[in-house]
Amino acid sequence: MRPYLSVVVKPTLYCNTGCSHCYHTPEERVRGQMSPETLERLIKMTSEEYESVWFIWHGGEPLTVPLSFYKDAVALQERYFGKDNYRCGNTFQTNGTLINRRFMAFCREKRINVGVSYEGPYNSVLREGDPSKALGMLSAKESKYSVSATISRETALRQRELYEFFKKDGTNLSLSPVIPAGCARCNGTVPDPDEFIRGSIEAFDAWFHDSGSNVPLVPHYLYILNYLGDPTPSDCAHTSCLTKWLCIHPDGTAYPCAKACPEEFRMGNINEVGSIQELFQSEGFRRILIGSVERREKCATCPVYRYCNGGCSMDAYYECGLSENGGDSCRIFREVFTHVSDAVQEVLDGNGDVSGLNPFVRDAIVGKLVNPRVVSQ
Ligand SMILES: C[S@@+](CC[C@H](N)C(=O)[O-])C[C@H]1O[C@@H](n2cnc3c(N)ncnc32)[C@H](O)[C@@H]1O
Ligand code: SF4
Ligand code: SF4
Repeated sequence: MRPYLSVVVKPTLYCNTGCSHCYHTPEERVRGQMSPETLERLIKMTSEEYESVWFIWHGGEPLTVPLSFYKDAVALQERYFGKDNYRCGNTFQTNGTLINRRFMAFCREKRINVGVSYEGPYNSVLREGDPSKALGMLSAKESKYSVSATISRETALRQRELYEFFKKDGTNLSLSPVIPAGCARCNGTVPDPDEFIRGSIEAFDAWFHDSGSNVPLVPHYLYILNYLGDPTPSDCAHTSCLTKWLCIHPDGTAYPCAKACPEEFRMGNINEVGSIQELFQSEGFRRILIGSVERREKCATCPVYRYCNGGCSMDAYYECGLSENGGDSCRIFREVFTHVSDAVQEVLDGNGDVSGLNPFVRDAIVGKLVNPRVVSQ
């Protein structure tokens, strides 16, 4: 058995709303739902080949699919992975507009993480739908979700404000830029990289020195763990994800990434292969692997390569080509990561005074001061 796999499942590509930046075009976001047979086959096959599997329910909008579909999915997971052995877990990634108490109670009972795509006061910049009403109906106990804010040209310099906004309710926040894919290819929603970098660093500085904060800020917190850690936890773009991630569309078609993947990287269909490994031996997977290796070879002299792993192949593909680095996502990572790691190194090199730092930062740094063997540099 292989150790682990993250599977992004798109039970539908249909969405109840339309975002101006969505990497799935309106023509792709059509009705249609994964069949019970495809769902069972996916869960059975992954359980037979992997020690542990994380399912991320995505789309389209996953909550346009009835809750009974997900109850069946969890029942199948319990059947094939076993009920109490923690071999698999789940996350929902939703636009939040259809969230209700019944759904949150199910997630609580089954220990399912909920991620809501939401930009708080700037939500209408990219999105038609507004989850604030649905989220506002939840009690404090029911409001256990994290927020993913997608940062556009208009909000690039508002990242600190978004951190302050979500921190008030103790909501975990991740910030990521619009990439030039699908609807965002030519409509001006992609942020200016210099402004994104500035906004990201401003948010980080506020969070890093916020001793009263009770939330992690992503990706910055993961960058800190990555810099200090060995092994190195990181965000999906910088984990060398190929062979560890898989995306399954409603009809069972497999792709290597959840971001809109072109047909040239299609890996086959789980209804037509005998094993998950067969998907990774496909021509489509070979293509993305070869292009990604070429890009990484060009990254060899980069000072942050060991933390970046050459970045996200789909970001590179949409920015300047699969085998080329140097696009916006490369610049953004290098500059933001360097700022974050310099801030951590300054604390490590100083007198070790961590008072006044964010508790998440404090715990991470104190852990490494206690065990300096694993400090990266
Ligand atoms: C495609 S949506 C699918 C799940 C669900 N409908 C939602 O909005 O969370 C998943 C995430 O991808 C982000 N996303 C969509 N298009 C993007 C793009 N061009 N660049 C960066 N992120 C994008 C969305 O903002 C959202 O957070
Ligand atoms: S980002 Fe999510 S909510 Fe927005 S259009 Fe795309 S699938 Fe729908
Ligand atoms: S920051 Fe850019 S050049 Fe450096 S490893 Fe990442 S993708 Fe390659």
